[in-house]
Amino acid sequence: MPSVPPKCCINPSILSADFVNLEAELARISNADAVHVDVMDNHFVPNLTIGLPVVERLQKVSPVPLDAHLMISNVDRWAPQFADAGLSSVTFHVEASEAPIKLARELRARGAKAGMALRPATPVEPYLDMLSELDMLLIMTVEPGFGGQAFLDVMLPKIRRARAAVDGSGVDVAIQVDGGITEETIIRAAEAGANVFVAGSAVYGKPSPADAIESLRANSQLAFAPTTLQFNDIALQQA
Ligand code: DX5
Ligand code: ZN
Repeated sequence: MPSVPPKCCINPSILSADFVNLEAELARISNADAVHVDVMDNHFVPNLTIGLPVVERLQKVSPVPLDAHLMISNVDRWAPQFADAGLSSVTFHVEASEAPIKLARELRARGAKAGMALRPATPVEPYLDMLSELDMLLIMTVEPGFGGQAFLDVMLPKIRRARAAVDGSGVDVAIQVDGGITEETIIRAAEAGANVFVAGSAVYGKPSPADAIESLRANSQLAFAPTTLQFNDIALQQA
């Protein structure tokens, strides 16, 4: 477990918000680090959400930066347009991209952070040589497509291996987890090495989304709280 926590971000997913009133729903999470916007095309995943015109409007009214998660086919064609809309970060699925390095470079050239997502059964190892091309690696902790699913604990070793690779490479790549993040599972995900946490139902399913964000933020730091053993070590060193 790292002793110094990497910068932690809580990114609520508007998939669990009220789609009739998205501007008001964004205002309820103004203490978030970013808002996670799930774009689905009913092809890459068996669900359909919003597309570029709605995302462009969200970008104009959001009090926090937009973090798009593109669960779409033909992503090499579409993702650059999301970057052109001024989004803070644009994440594509590697399984949907013909040329992920080219795409990541295109996103960065257009001013967005480049994120790359892996479905649960996609191993991280084949992509470790391209970490320097990325700003964020998204390790899905549910099968993409729907909110409210249970966190897949079998993803924890993959998060650990990704964290070890990122730390070993010396490049500044955030590790995002998405799916089933709750006040409980966020502790395990943070301990494994994730530092950007997407939460849909655990934020918008609560009476106060803003309070839910702060609880998640606090729990993500529990993984880095000094243990009794560490306290004793310090006491011994000082004695
Ligand atoms: C699922 C989406 C998630 C979803 C998470 O495919 O990518 O962002 O909103 O929802 P929860 O946090 O409820 O699992
Ligand atoms: Zn998502």
